[in-house]
Formats: sequence, structure tokens, C-alpha cells
Amino acid sequence: RRYSSAAAFSMAGALAACDGPQSALRTGGVDAAQLAQLFWVMLAGAVVLWLLVNGLFLYVTRIKTRSLSRKWAEALIIGGGIVFPTIVLGALLAYGLTMMPDQRAPGDGLRVRITGEQWWWRVEYWPEGAETPVISANELRLPAGLRSEIELTSAEVIHSFWVPGLGGKTDMFPGRPTRMSLEPTEPGSYRGQCAEFCGASHALMAMQAVVMEPAAFDAWLAKEAAPASLPEGPGRDLFFREGCGACHSLRGTEAAGAVGPDLTHLGGRSSLAAGILPMTSEALARWIFDPASIKPEAHMPAYSHLSDAELASLAGWLEQLQ
Ligand code: CUA
Repeated sequence: RRYSSAAAFSMAGALAACDGPQSALRTGGVDAAQLAQLFWVMLAGAVVLWLLVNGLFLYVTRIKTRSLSRKWAEALIIGGGIVFPTIVLGALLAYGLTMMPDQRAPGDGLRVRITGEQWWWRVEYWPEGAETPVISANELRLPAGLRSEIELTSAEVIHSFWVPGLGGKTDMFPGRPTRMSLEPTEPGSYRGQCAEFCGASHALMAMQAVVMEPAAFDAWLAKEAAPASLPEGPGRDLFFREGCGACHSLRGTEAAGAVGPDLTHLGGRSSLAAGILPMTSEALARWIFDPASIKPEAHMPAYSHLSDAELASLAGWLEQLQ
């Protein structure tokens, strides 16, 4: 009884992992679908191998060894232990290799450069023919039905870019760009996660990837490219008085820092602090008060000298930067 509940428990866990926003088996694009197919084929191959090898094992342990002729024993060892696994594993390898050209295909329009930072993502969009990028952070938006070229790099240590619902995983190295391409097909939201240990807050380096219909994507990109429009209010004065612009940029204003994430359209993102907090003024206030209490060793200093009222007005103002 204990065994059956343990089995049911692990089965439930395994099935739960098949769904959800960060599942490699809930696929939203051509690349991830191909990898999911590879997974199922390899799983089937592994099951066949397992059944055969264990079947042979049971067979030889249940017959009297003396009644097994030498020839038959050799055939079992060579056939079951060497020939059969070689054929199955060789076939699986060949099948996997046929997918390589598709997985490495070049993009056909939009280029996106993503830079891993401790512990967030700098995201730059280069539409075809663009001279300068549209700068954003911590969220990747892609048009459905088009193959986008993704250039990956890092500012300091090795990170790894992985949105399981959209495609495979690619490491990001400082000083040595890597690339991949993604062709999402299903509009929706997919969770990504840094997949290479990169310091204290590696586990808190996530992102949302949002796949949009091409027309909606173009409209979003045009909006994202526009300079900041700053609402009036005490939050605005606090932003400039506290020197936030030394690290953060509000395009079109004197705030032109490039150390931290670009905040020009911060309020338009679905999450805060690289996918770990909701985009609300409460979460923003908590973050500004003491970032390292939320994300250990975060490079942004604490603004714990601000009063609750000041934090609320600064956070409320930032949330309006759409
Ligand atoms: Cu970045 Cu782990």
C-alpha cells in the first residue's frame, strides 16, 4: 500500500511537470515542439531497451545455467548486451542529429540581443534595417509565425538562456556571443529561467517570454521605441532627486544610466525584478526599499531612508511609465 501511494505520488509529480508555464512539453513553437518530439522518441527507445535488457535478465536468472548452451549464452550476451543497444542508441543519435540544422536555422527578420546580467536580462530589439536598438529588459516579446534571431551574451559571468516552452537552452558567455533562433507559433506567455549557476540570486533570474500576433507585436515595438512620457507628481521629483537616473534610463530625459534595467516603459511589463515579483506599486515599493532582501546580493542599493509615503509615490509614479 505504501508503495502504491509512493508510485501515485511520483506519477502525479511527473504529470504536473508536463504542464505549466515553464514546461518543455507544453510547446508554443516549432523549435520546442521538435525537442518535445525528440524527448518522446528517446523515452520510447529507453523503454524498449529497458524492457528487453530486463526481460533477458529475468530469462537467464530463471533457467538453470547448466541447461543454457554456451552458444546461446554468447548470443544473449553479444546480442542483448552489445548489438541491440548499439542499434537502438545509434538510431536515436542519428534521429537527434537530423534536427540540428533546424535548431541552428538563421532568423529571417527581427534580431534580439539578450545580455545576461547579475541577475536580470538586458533585451535589445533590432528590427530589420534598424540603426539603433529598441532597449527593454526582463521580458522577451516575439512575433508568432516568424523566426527571430536571438544573439546571446553576458556582462560578467556565464548565464544560460532558457524558455523551455519555446526552444532549447543556450549558454551566455562574457566576450563570446552565442546565437539561437526561435519560431514561436502560439501567442501566450511562457516562463524562462537562467539555467546556469551565476551567483547568489541565480534561482531568482527568471523572465516572461510573450508571443504576440505580428500586428500586435509591431504596435508594441513602436510603443516601446517611443521616448518616456513622464507623468507629473512627487514621484517624478523623487526619481531625479534620488539620482535613480545614474543607473537607470528613461529615454528622452536626462536619466541615461545604463548600469541597471531601462525603465522607459517599466509599467508595461508583466513582472518586476526579472520575473519574480508582480508589476504592482506595492511590489515596486518593497523592491526599492531593500532589493537585497528580495534578491540576495542584488547590485541595486537600498533606499530604506525613504519614508513609506515617499516610497509609495515613487512606486506609483514608476508604475505609470507605460
Ligand atoms: Cu544567470 Cu543563473
